Amino acid sequence: MNFSVTCNMIDKQTVDRILDAVRIEEVIGDFVSLKRRGANYLGLCPFHEDKNPSMSVSPSKGIFKCFACGKAGTAVTFLMEHEHITYPEALRWLARKYGIEIEEKEESPEEAASRLKYESLILICEAGQKYFSDILWNTEQGRAIGLSYFHERQFSDDTIRNFGLGFALPGRTNFLEWAKSKGYNPDLLVDAGMCMRHDDGSIVDRFFNRVIFPIYSIGGRAIGFGARTLVKDEKPKYVNSPESIIYDKKHTLYGITQAKSEISKEDRCYLVEGYADVISMHQKGVRNLIASSGTSLTQEQITLIKRFTNNITVMYDGDAAGQHASLRGVDMILGAGMNVKVISLPVEDDPDSFAKSHTYDEILTYLERNEKDFIMFKSDLLMKDAERDPIRKASMINDVIESVSMIPDAVTRSVYVQTVSDKFDVKTDVIFNRITELRERRRRNEALRAASPILGAQYENRPVPGSEELVLPVEEKSPEITNQFLAPNESEILYYLIKFGPYNLVFDSDKYYGAVARPAVTVAQFIRAELQKDDSELVNPLYHRLYDDYFATFGDVAYVDDVSRDAIEQSVLRHFTTCDDKSVVEMVIGMLSDEQPLTIKEFRKSLVPEEMRLGEIVPKMLDLYKYKVLEFACKELGSELGEAQKNGDVERQKEILERLKEYTQAKTAFSKSVNRLT
Ligand code: CTP
Ligand code: MN
Repeated sequence: MNFSVTCNMIDKQTVDRILDAVRIEEVIGDFVSLKRRGANYLGLCPFHEDKNPSMSVSPSKGIFKCFACGKAGTAVTFLMEHEHITYPEALRWLARKYGIEIEEKEESPEEAASRLKYESLILICEAGQKYFSDILWNTEQGRAIGLSYFHERQFSDDTIRNFGLGFALPGRTNFLEWAKSKGYNPDLLVDAGMCMRHDDGSIVDRFFNRVIFPIYSIGGRAIGFGARTLVKDEKPKYVNSPESIIYDKKHTLYGITQAKSEISKEDRCYLVEGYADVISMHQKGVRNLIASSGTSLTQEQITLIKRFTNNITVMYDGDAAGQHASLRGVDMILGAGMNVKVISLPVEDDPDSFAKSHTYDEILTYLERNEKDFIMFKSDLLMKDAERDPIRKASMINDVIESVSMIPDAVTRSVYVQTVSDKFDVKTDVIFNRITELRERRRRNEALRAASPILGAQYENRPVPGSEELVLPVEEKSPEITNQFLAPNESEILYYLIKFGPYNLVFDSDKYYGAVARPAVTVAQFIRAELQKDDSELVNPLYHRLYDDYFATFGDVAYVDDVSRDAIEQSVLRHFTTCDDKSVVEMVIGMLSDEQPLTIKEFRKSLVPEEMRLGEIVPKMLDLYKYKVLEFACKELGSELGEAQKNGDVERQKEILERLKEYTQAKTAFSKSVNRLT
């Protein structure tokens, strides 16, 4: 039987994603009550009559074992045996638990080939790792240049072996020739990132005359390399493997292979910046640490760390740049429900130099004494900046509140609200209100984001059944106005962008809450931030073009004084009324003639001049737009539902109804915010 064709396959990448997300103690914990014992968990074995807990679960190894009956396995085999289901069913169960989408399909010959290719590329990297390490230890140049460099950095021989470090000889085809002699296909060497192809078709080594830091997958297989120059001030300092089917940078953490069991044992993970930081700390005995290496921390990396611990401590260089770098990515960690701490090293140190100049005990003591709660760290750091710049204080407090709002657990959140309130002398209910607003907004914007692909697919010009009459007709039909339903709202957004872009937005809520409520922002900044956040940046091609052109030409449009603002206003008008795009000129002139029918004006008439009401109008205008985007998506789903009913596709109907419910809820939230009295 040709198994690979008949078996209903889940593709390799998805399987990897599922297995990456799985935390065995969570899976088994769904069926058995587990208690922590050091690095492991203990529970009653469900596979035999167990009186005393004899099943041990190891998060770092991802396995369970019963010492009484001998049953052992992974999260997947646990599910198969406990629930009496097949392998694909177990994967599907896990995918549901961890919210991973599976596209079911049969493996085609191409897919089988790509699976084989994946394996060959890894084999090439593993061969490369051995090759570079062999050069380091066993050639004259390797020892004289590479090994002595590592020794100079005080890496011990054990450490060098443990991390598989190596050396790439000078000369541009050493590895290539070696690999060819071993029968490796040069095209695959390129695909594995080990070699590069020049425009003329010739192939050369990517790494030469550099020391080599191999990068391993969580399972300990070499998938990429960082190669450091030995020449002072040569750029780039590191040459790294490119992204490839085996080296997915956003899923990779440097040092995870060596650190993972220690991370779950210590129930804490230190995060540093560089390869050398990991290695030096590790050598000194601090082994629960990893580097996100080169990229800023990603959601995927966080998921990976979360398999081993809920506690992250960010440890960055002691200088100001390092401290600010430590703020990056942290809201994401908070959002994942993890506890975040920060260590500031002495100003002159990075983790590498600090490890070298201190003993293990000194390091531990320093880490214990200087660990700071992230929210406190951020407050202190920004406060220092704000002291020099009082205008930034409100925006800084807001920034801290935003971080607090990311924390999923309500109790933890409220503890921080109290802290922030004490620290900045802001009433707790003001902070709670702001947090509720931020969280509510994030929730409904998720629905909007989910709806956006529908818009992308619907660029044709056709009437939408039963459009509500908030909509005013757009006079002439242009091939560039492809979505009539959203056109009035989009042109309205452009009206405020072009006419009032550099105006400062004074929110009504600010008058009430005081300056704490929001950072200073201009109409243009606000519009861009609001729409970008949701990937809902104007679907009609003409409007989208104008919108892009605005920001490409005028950039960030930060808050300025009145004189400069007038100057920006003038140049915006000049730009759009004199550009060589005729439809843009006509539209802008039409807009500025003030005859423009404005939906939000219809919404609430007021005698107060427009520029005094921007703080009310602009946010509501954008919420109204988002409301209509969702409305449009609902209508589309409505006709799809009709289709599905006709075809008797019950699954699809259920899916659509569920989505409709989600969108409708979000819609209601947006419409409430439009209607809210201010
Ligand atoms: N990095 C990179 N490419 C560069 C520079 C840096 O990929 N051109 C990544 C590497 O992972 C590096 C990390 O960013 O380890 C931190 O950079 P840096 O502090 O410059 O390097 P160190 O690791 O401290 O290197 P060293 O101590 O050897 O100078
Ligand atoms: Mn360094």
